[in-house]
Amino acid sequence: MKTSFSLVFFIIATNALADDQHSWQAPGPNDSRGPCPGLNTLANHGFLPRDGRNISISTILKAGYEGYHIEAEILTLAAKVGLLTSDQPTTFALNDLKAHGVIEHDASLSRQDVALGDNVRFNETIFSTLANSNPGSDVYNITSAGQVQHARLADSLKNNPNVTNTDTTLFIRSAESAFYLSVMGDPVQGVAPKNFVQIFFREERLPIEEGWKRSSVPINIATVSPMLDLITAASAPWEPTGNNCPGILT
Ligand code: HEM
Ligand SMILES: *[C@@H]1O[C@H](CO)[C@@H](O)[C@H](O)[C@H]1NC(C)=O
Ligand SMILES: *[C@@H]1O[C@H](CO)[C@@H](O)[C@H](O)[C@H]1NC(C)=O
Ligand SMILES: *[C@@H]1O[C@H](CO)[C@@H](O)[C@H](O)[C@H]1NC(C)=O
Ligand SMILES: *[C@@H]1O[C@H](CO)[C@@H](O)[C@H](O)[C@H]1NC(C)=O
Ligand SMILES: *[C@@H]1O[C@H](CO)[C@@H](O)[C@H](O)[C@H]1NC(C)=O
Repeated sequence: MKTSFSLVFFIIATNALADDQHSWQAPGPNDSRGPCPGLNTLANHGFLPRDGRNISISTILKAGYEGYHIEAEILTLAAKVGLLTSDQPTTFALNDLKAHGVIEHDASLSRQDVALGDNVRFNETIFSTLANSNPGSDVYNITSAGQVQHARLADSLKNNPNVTNTDTTLFIRSAESAFYLSVMGDPVQGVAPKNFVQIFFREERLPIEEGWKRSSVPINIATVSPMLDLITAASAPWEPTGNNCPGILT
């Protein structure tokens, strides 16, 4: 009797602890956050350090797997390139990732171009293109993701005389679109409920209360690569633009 009570108590206590460890908490004033909603969300849920600092490549790989079911094979390169933005030998802070031309690029879905304003924090005006896409439907999909990329680039081409728009930035942008459809929706079909995607961008929160669940299907090269190609095709017509300042990837 005593043993089973202790066991039950232990299980309840452990579950409560596990839930609490990964509950959403808004970042404090000294917590580091950056231009990536995916990583900011992992930090807000404690899958990454909540202060957003001292993040190693293995920390990223573990957090991406636990939080989103993303496999290491598709995060490793981005994590390594992210490390180039840091002055530390093996770790970075989320805010370091704002370094323009490493991964950070123009024509983002939710941040201003660096030449025009704040390339780190969420901006509702910028995000409204994505928010209002696919009218009449409850979901975003590959078609709407491509259209949004086209519209966001058109806005940057119009307003940013220093815009950088290369094959590499197009690839990164399509990968990011594939990422929001995959982590917030169905990583095989590339369809994600609008309210989940909006909460992810606006609040940098996993919409668990609203019914979201971590994908049961692993998110990896086999799922992301074809989706990325379809999103790129759906963003056509596209051509590169001049003034491609030297960056690590651009
Ligand atoms: C863990 C899974 C990840 C998800 C779901 C994710 C998702 C996203 C999304 C949707 C964007 C586009 C934001 C926008 O255009 O406004 C983005 C941007 C970004 N991500 Fe991630 N990401 C992940 C991992 C990473 C990793 C590992 C790195 C590098 C260490 C990274 C660095 C960035 C950077 C620098 C941007 C800003 C690009 C820009 O808009 O200028 N992300 N990410
Ligand atoms: C933030 O950091 C500053 C300087 O290190 C410190 O004075 C302040 O108390 C910190 N604030 C919080 C909320 O931790
Ligand atoms: C940084 O993280 C590592 C584990 O990844 C940990 O061993 C170390 O104590 C941390 N350092 C600081 C200063 O938080
Ligand atoms: C655009 O780039 C040029 C050359 O690097 C620089 O002088 C100028 O200040 C930049 N303009 C903006 C709006 O960032
Ligand atoms: C958001 O972006 C728009 C469009 O570039 C800009 O006019 C506005 O000032 C930005 N808002 C903030 C709070 O930075
Ligand atoms: C995306 O949704 C729109 C609106 O329902 C639809 O017309 C379009 O065919 C869908 N795209 C894909 C790839 O399913």
